[in-house]
Amino acid sequence: MTAVNAVSFDIAAGETVGLVGESGCGKSSLARVLAGLRQPQQGYLAVNGKPMQGPRDWRQARRSVQMVFQDPAASLDPRMRVRTLLEQPLRALCPQWDASQRADKIDAALFAVGLGSAYGDRYAHSLSGGQAQRVAIARAIVVEPDLLICDEPLSALDVSVQAQIINLLRDIQRRTGMAMLLIAHDLAVVRQLCDRVYVMYLGEFLEQGRAEDVLLRPAHPYTRALLSCVPQLEPTGQAPILLEGELPDPGERPSGCVFRTRCPMVDDICARSTPDWHRQPHGGYSACHFAAHQASPMIARALR
Ligand SMILES: Nc1ncnc2c1ncn2[C@@H]1O[C@H](COP(=O)(O)OP(=O)(O)OP(=O)(O)O)[C@@H](O)[C@H]1O
Ligand code: SF4
Ligand SMILES: [Mg+2]
Repeated sequence: MTAVNAVSFDIAAGETVGLVGESGCGKSSLARVLAGLRQPQQGYLAVNGKPMQGPRDWRQARRSVQMVFQDPAASLDPRMRVRTLLEQPLRALCPQWDASQRADKIDAALFAVGLGSAYGDRYAHSLSGGQAQRVAIARAIVVEPDLLICDEPLSALDVSVQAQIINLLRDIQRRTGMAMLLIAHDLAVVRQLCDRVYVMYLGEFLEQGRAEDVLLRPAHPYTRALLSCVPQLEPTGQAPILLEGELPDPGERPSGCVFRTRCPMVDDICARSTPDWHRQPHGGYSACHFAAHQASPMIARALR
């Protein structure tokens, strides 16, 4: 089975890129490939311009790409103290730092995520969800990566803690200049944090471009459907576009356009031919045969 198919993705230093799409579309699978945790069957991946052709290349690049996993609490060994959890990647990936430098880096990382160094002595099982998320972020940034991949960093947290983590990620990025890939269901958060966004469906990208173009003037029917389901504080008069049926099984990918079995605009050509990328008048790209004709702007007020 192929969870992610024929995608081309790039991210520059200091940039924040969002990856959105409904559950099961392949976001975490792609993240794992980008983090070197899963080998792609085909394709080319480079970190800082260097091709990653096998475990040896990844051993050297491991420090550069760090990931915060979808379920932070489960990714922390509950029997370990926070300090040990942060010490592990430092020992493995930063042999140039001695014990006293490692201790300084751990304190600095805990401070950066808003936890005092006293948290270093706490056991992982004693942390709240928000604290565990902060520790997971601290563990990823302690080795000073060039790219931080955050897979749904907010979904398990309540709204006030979400806002703190958003500010935290923004702050860390401003100070360190690292690039960030943010996987999130909350499109308002993506709009707030991301420079660019990729919209994924059944393991393929259907729309991409600057976050404000894609999220405020979506050209692809799938992006429009995703956006129309964002809760609005004030009624817009527009009915949400409800997608019929389930996401197809990745093993039974439809011919032509992958979205055609659920697309409200489907036409004969959609089963016969895979749409190319169409450049949109306002910027961005949409993989739909009719994208160039769908320029009617949509005001996603809840995203502003
Ligand atoms: N280890 C695995 N073995 C087999 N199939 C898997 C595995 N991990 C994911 N899949 C399948 O690959 C597809 C993509 O899953 P993935 O976890 O990447 O989706 P996602 O977009 O991250 O979803 P969510 O938003 O729910 O986290 C799904 O059909 C899933 O069932
Ligand atoms: S190519 Fe056809 S099925 Fe695919 S999104 Fe466009 S209209 Fe819908
Ligand atoms: Mg996922």
